[in-house]
Amino acid sequence: MTAKQDERDRIAALREQIDQHNYRYYVLDEPNIPDAEYDRLMRELQALESAHPDLITPDSPTQRVGGAPLSAFTQVVHRMPMLSLDNAFDADEMAAWDKRVRDRLKLSGVVEYAAEPKLDGLAISLRYEDGRLVQAATRGDGTQGEDVTANVRTIKAIPLKLRGDDWPRVVEVRGEVFMPKTGFERLNERARKAGEKTFVNPRNAAAGSLRQLDSRITATRPLAMFCYGLGEVEGDHPAPTHDQAMARLRGWGLPISPELQVVQGVDGCLAYYADIGRRRDALPYDIDGVVFKVNDYAAQQTLGFVAKAPRWAIAHKFPAQEELTTVEAVEFQVGRTGAVTPVARLTPVFVGGVTVSNATLHNMDEVERKDVRAGDTVIVRRAGDVIPEVVSVVQEHRPAGTEPVVLPSHCPVCGSDVIKPEGEAVARCSGGLYCAAQRKEAVKHFASRKALDIDGLGDKLVEQLIDSDLIHDPADLFDLRLEQIAGLERMAEKSAQNLLNALDAAKQTTLARFLFALGIMGIGEAMAANLARELGSLQAIMALRLADLIAVKPSQAKTFHGWACGLGLPPTTPLPTLLGRAGAPKWFTEAHALMLVERFADLGSLCATGPEQVENAPTRQIDGVGDVLATQLVTFFHQPHNREVIDKLIAVGVHWEEGQGPAAPERQPLQGKTFVLTGTLSRPRDEIKTELQALGAKVTGSVSKKTDYVVAGEAAGSKLTKAQALGVTVLDEQGLASLLQGLIDTA
Ligand code: IVH
Repeated sequence: MTAKQDERDRIAALREQIDQHNYRYYVLDEPNIPDAEYDRLMRELQALESAHPDLITPDSPTQRVGGAPLSAFTQVVHRMPMLSLDNAFDADEMAAWDKRVRDRLKLSGVVEYAAEPKLDGLAISLRYEDGRLVQAATRGDGTQGEDVTANVRTIKAIPLKLRGDDWPRVVEVRGEVFMPKTGFERLNERARKAGEKTFVNPRNAAAGSLRQLDSRITATRPLAMFCYGLGEVEGDHPAPTHDQAMARLRGWGLPISPELQVVQGVDGCLAYYADIGRRRDALPYDIDGVVFKVNDYAAQQTLGFVAKAPRWAIAHKFPAQEELTTVEAVEFQVGRTGAVTPVARLTPVFVGGVTVSNATLHNMDEVERKDVRAGDTVIVRRAGDVIPEVVSVVQEHRPAGTEPVVLPSHCPVCGSDVIKPEGEAVARCSGGLYCAAQRKEAVKHFASRKALDIDGLGDKLVEQLIDSDLIHDPADLFDLRLEQIAGLERMAEKSAQNLLNALDAAKQTTLARFLFALGIMGIGEAMAANLARELGSLQAIMALRLADLIAVKPSQAKTFHGWACGLGLPPTTPLPTLLGRAGAPKWFTEAHALMLVERFADLGSLCATGPEQVENAPTRQIDGVGDVLATQLVTFFHQPHNREVIDKLIAVGVHWEEGQGPAAPERQPLQGKTFVLTGTLSRPRDEIKTELQALGAKVTGSVSKKTDYVVAGEAAGSKLTKAQALGVTVLDEQGLASLLQGLIDTA
């Protein structure tokens, strides 16, 4: 045997194995090797074929990658027309159809029907000659479609060659090409990331993918197919009934719906319809109904056709899951945790079996991505029990004069500031203690075990207290009287008294618990303890400004000043409106904007200064408090309503032992000092940095006039030179050690 013969044999064996695995995967749904092993077989075959291109055949599994783009599709005349289906929308229409079938067939007993889901994709005809796929065509107008062979060859579920040898010489197989839901989601996710247009639904995605002139694009799309019928057959017809014919197709390697069933009479049809209806959302692909066919081919023949649809089949449709309607307004709702969510108020529309008049828009990113505006015509989808959503805007129908939706700056419920932390999708109301929308959650949290730990005040009781208007905020709890509590449902006088005692006991707490109990966004138990320890008193925490916490480096100050003051905006422009403007520096976030507001009234007053006035060296460094948390913390205490509740809490006697007040100077001896570390040091730089920071120092990366000390190790370069030029104190490690020793001695 020649070396070439060996390779020929190996190629044949690999093709057979790969075809076998495709069959197991796509037709039987019983794969028996891991994907990695399948990929290995494919790669081996590819390598052999590229070494011997003369051995490549068009039905090799490697030939599914698509070829050169076409300039147009060729038309194909269907030798047997591709029909459509009549629809039934309810049980009565189904019963009427069944009766017509029985009357025509002159049957008194029940008719046997084949039942399959009605796939939401597009119809395709596959022509096999001598077991090889020679042509694939779309339905078109039913008489004439488009030749999409090159595209269909890239769909792995469709065999290029039929299995076995008992197929008719010519057999035309018909079915539906569709895109499974997960593949659709992935495809759209990819498109979104690449900034490309997304598909509205899996059906459009399947159609768009199959009607591609460039089959290499089709090859990347996750298309699948189920066969549901036969067209032209030359030679013996495969079977006397539909279900048997489908079983033969399956044996030849063609994918058939696993849901195919034979049912008896209209009752069987209705039971099948109800069962599939219940499982509709769990199916891995979209369907829009169920198709019933008289199972017996001879009976089908007798029944024949009317116009373009057969008498022997019917589609029992599910209620549509997508409809068009208009957006009357976009409003904002505040959730119980303060999330401010945009909601589309819709002209009521019947979709997915119910009337829908509101649809959540989730968050502002989504509103912007979909560009939904009041006045727009939109596609609304309600699938199963899933909450209704706006799928997309029909841009062509947009009336003149619509305005983009803007996030309100104040909570529509309580008027507190709304904040949307940089990089987060959700905007929130910062009036946590006061906002009516958040009351229940705020009080539940306040009473919870790790907060004020009010014994006997469970969630149900909190709800009763609020629903009966006895309390509005956590401070009101402490004004409750015995008879008010005892008057509540399922509340004996004894438990009412116990609750009063528990409330009294809870007044004595710790600063950490109190802080945690306030329910400030982002302030968990550990962070509350951290803040209490580092700052010592509620006063100190409430007095924090963003400028105490957020840095602007000299270089940032310079770029920002140049950019902001070069925009040519009026001097009265509020600084936060600069957020998100073209050319804004990346680091310029909401936190920075609010911090600058603390220091400059508006753009004019900022530009009246030099860039160095924009620089900021924070005075506090609190473990774990980044820009986002700093904003949430400062904004919370900034809301007058929150402050009122805090004052009330203190007035009713909630108290704790305060610490030293702002960290005592002797513990932060390097407060306000700026260090730069350079050159090779005897210990990791980070270690020294942490040590210095623990003593209150700021450690930066570049030397400026503001630098107090440069610690220079061996082979220090430009930073050392610059320090010397600026007259900054330079220490070697020895010098640093004595500086620190001195501090410890004086402490
Ligand atoms: S049988 C002559 N079975 O529905 C009968 N059609 O509305 C031909 N469809 O063009 C169709 N799933 O694209 C049949 N299980 C199924 C189907 C199905 C989806 C589509 C098909 C057809 C359209 C008619």
